[in-house]
Amino acid sequence: MKILMVCLGNICRSPLAEGVLRHLVNAQGLDWEIASAGTGDWHIGQAPDRRSVAVAKTYGYDISAQRARHFTRASFDQFDHILVMDKNNLKDVLGLAINQEQKQKVSLFLTDDAEVADPYYDNALFDPVFKIVEARCKQLIEDWK
Ligand code: 4NP
Repeated sequence: MKILMVCLGNICRSPLAEGVLRHLVNAQGLDWEIASAGTGDWHIGQAPDRRSVAVAKTYGYDISAQRARHFTRASFDQFDHILVMDKNNLKDVLGLAINQEQKQKVSLFLTDDAEVADPYYDNALFDPVFKIVEARCKQLIEDWK
């Protein structure tokens, strides 16, 4: 199973989801492939935001080697599930889909129509965002393994 995590810049939220889920998947020996991408192209090739690297490290995850990628139409063919952090991401990703099969791969990362808040302009959000992301990644494994 191939899973793509998506946010706006691919430097704060989706790299956390990528790194945490990959770590948990590897620990369980699951044959899942995890990646992340941004709907925006500003940060292509960059390491995650230092605040995301730091909060991940605090909780025992190393995301520092990950590099930002851009979500493109080709991503639909490369992944089975595309999980987006907020409703703007959802609109942007669905806007690139060309058929129903592609649209059906896309859903919000969180359940119950909830969004992962963008922490980019608020340092205090990185810790709660991390906890929400980690909890959902654990739940995803229970749901999908
Ligand atoms: P992310 O956060 O979507 O969680 O990676 C952001 C990162 C960069 C920007 C906005 C949000 N930006 O405007 O550059």
